[in-house]
Amino acid sequence: MKSSALFDVAGRATIVTGGASGIGFACAEAMIDNGARVTLMDMNQGSLDEAVKTLSARGQVRGEVVDVTDRPALRKAFVNTAAHYGRLDVVFANAGISGGPGFLQLDGNRNPERMIESYTDEQVDKVVGVNFFSTFATIQAAVPHMKKSGGGRIIVTSSISSMMTEVHVAQTYVMSKAGLPQLVRQAALELVGYNILVNAMAPGPFITNIGGGRLKDPANQKLFEKFSPMHRMGKTEDIQGLALFLASPASAYITGQQITIDGGVTLGIAD
Ligand SMILES: NC(=O)c1ccc[n+]([C@@H]2O[C@H](COP(=O)([O-])OP(=O)(O)OC[C@H]3O[C@@H](n4cnc5c(N)ncnc54)[C@H](O)[C@@H]3O)[C@@H](O)[C@H]2O)c1
Repeated sequence: MKSSALFDVAGRATIVTGGASGIGFACAEAMIDNGARVTLMDMNQGSLDEAVKTLSARGQVRGEVVDVTDRPALRKAFVNTAAHYGRLDVVFANAGISGGPGFLQLDGNRNPERMIESYTDEQVDKVVGVNFFSTFATIQAAVPHMKKSGGGRIIVTSSISSMMTEVHVAQTYVMSKAGLPQLVRQAALELVGYNILVNAMAPGPFITNIGGGRLKDPANQKLFEKFSPMHRMGKTEDIQGLALFLASPASAYITGQQITIDGGVTLGIAD
């Protein structure tokens, strides 16, 4: 089969949560540049407007302002979008937030504010609420529309934090991502009979606006580059091949999987 047919997503009605920035925006770009129709859902009105403006020069795009933790609003945004397209084919359940730094500071000393006993109930609920519960809520919102459409693809943005411990990453973030591979497996098993395939992408450190842009800070970048066998962090365009693969016929026999995309970080330190 020609690569143009293998990776054909033309016309696919697509939703990207957290699509106004970073990894979600890059997924939206990959879909739009290959002819899909894309709705970006994001809570940040300013960056959403900007993203829609940028992408509208390249294809069919619209935006819905929604906080994914507001479940009735999320369901309504999915109903609106499926009605707009008359179907729903692909969903990137991508919206997520950082939990801040981990229990070690960059100088190697312990960070008193990031000890297990220091986290507030609000901090715990917020990070787990956005990253874990809202991923499930997004899948829930998508499924009725995909069943009506005769199938679909759900692609969850997980993290290497779902698999490994990280001294520079918050406890809340690690635990919020830990359940995602198993959520994906269980959902995939239930939904395979409806022709809905569910998979996850597990990125390593990517340069985005997450955590107030802390991964754009040179001191942080130096640290993450040290742990990377490629000695570089991910650029948002690095996600696009995997995003397109999981949304397209090329991955038709893959479901319930989490694919790591980390430049080798989870392999260990190479030199
Ligand atoms: N950047 C990394 O190093 C990295 C690594 C692994 C996984 N991830 C995951 O990738 C996903 C995207 O993060 P990113 O790095 O592109 O960050 P980002 O901050 O650049 O983009 C995230 C987007 O999600 C939106 N968002 C946040 N909370 C929301 C909510 N409650 N409702 C709706 N929209 C919301 C933000 O407004 C923003 O536009 C997240 O799930 C994150 O955990 C990122």
